[in-house]
Amino acid sequence: MLGLETSCDETSAAVVADGRRVYSSVISSQFEIHRAHGGIVPELAARSHITAIIPVVERALHESGFERDDLDAIAVTQGPGLAGSLVVGMNVAKAMAYALTRPLVAVNHLEAHIYANWLTDSKVIPPEPEFPVLCLLVSGGHTELILMAGHGRFQHLGRTLDDAAGEAFDKGARLLALGFPGGPAIQERAGAGNAAAFELPRAWLSGTYDFSFSGLKTALLRLTEPMRLASDENPVDVPARREASRPFREHRLPRFATDAPIADLAAAFQEAICEPLAVKTAQAASAFNARTVVLAGGVAANQNLRDRLLQEVAIECGPEVRVSFPAFAYCTDNAAMVAGAASWIIRRGDLAGWEADIFPRLPLL
Ligand code: KG4
Ligand code: ZN
Repeated sequence: MLGLETSCDETSAAVVADGRRVYSSVISSQFEIHRAHGGIVPELAARSHITAIIPVVERALHESGFERDDLDAIAVTQGPGLAGSLVVGMNVAKAMAYALTRPLVAVNHLEAHIYANWLTDSKVIPPEPEFPVLCLLVSGGHTELILMAGHGRFQHLGRTLDDAAGEAFDKGARLLALGFPGGPAIQERAGAGNAAAFELPRAWLSGTYDFSFSGLKTALLRLTEPMRLASDENPVDVPARREASRPFREHRLPRFATDAPIADLAAAFQEAICEPLAVKTAQAASAFNARTVVLAGGVAANQNLRDRLLQEVAIECGPEVRVSFPAFAYCTDNAAMVAGAASWIIRRGDLAGWEADIFPRLPLL
């Protein structure tokens, strides 16, 4: 299976067999293009996919050791994501499927993140996660608690009422002047900090499996405002090349004294995001008799979240419930998860026709 992923700011192609074994996974990041803007600029993302995608596909095929003719099907992310970005992947996937006379599989990006837990780089294939699976999906755009009774059988238990967990990390990182993307930056600074040094609120929303992170972001703003330096704002490096046709909006971050307790704030903020996620996921796993708890999405790369989830699941469910994380490379956006999910989708007989379109707001179910 060849998979293509262009839903956001990574151009990626991968070759995966049987939904499990990854033969190649190539990711071309647009990080440098968007960094100075402090977030993703959709038009720049779409245009970079156009220039990157063919070399990325060529490399993924070459590294896999397979030829085009060896492919059984072509899979592509259909949504959710940025329209202009999704269109690039969809058109290339259709063209390849048409030229090679192979079936086209349209993959939901959220389902792909979940199926990243079935992937392995190794020749020795480990056992599959056992159903029922309880999944915490935490990315830049989504925070959802999902019960998976079997392949393709998803039930929503809860979601964020406002910001996604990754979005909270990104906004928190801006408030702490740690840059973009925020998750890895916060995790790194938090490593040298003490999470107990500051008290930040948790929205428990008890009696539900929902989450909320907007109050936490406001609390961090209130806490850090008095620490900001008077000479207010600090422009981030401006890209060397910029298009004359586009007005450039300078992205600004607050400025702090060198002895400001940024590491402690980062640690307290990270813990205030991870604790409710871990506790409520473990409670849901226990309530719905899950056999496996899986973490998915970009925020699944967060080590504190992994550690907290292991702890809470052990407390709530005991040692017989397994906790599974995708390999770090398959947490953030990648095409291996798309090619992987496509095998399970094909098994349920779900092929896309030539009329297949993209769906920027496609839900999981
Ligand atoms: O899944 P993903 O690559 O893209 C979406 O589908 O949204 O997730 C990106 C998000 C970003 O918000 C990023 O800050 C967050 O995942 N992220 C992390 C870490 N690595 C990426 N958040 C916390 N800790 C990390 N180590
Ligand atoms: Zn994603």
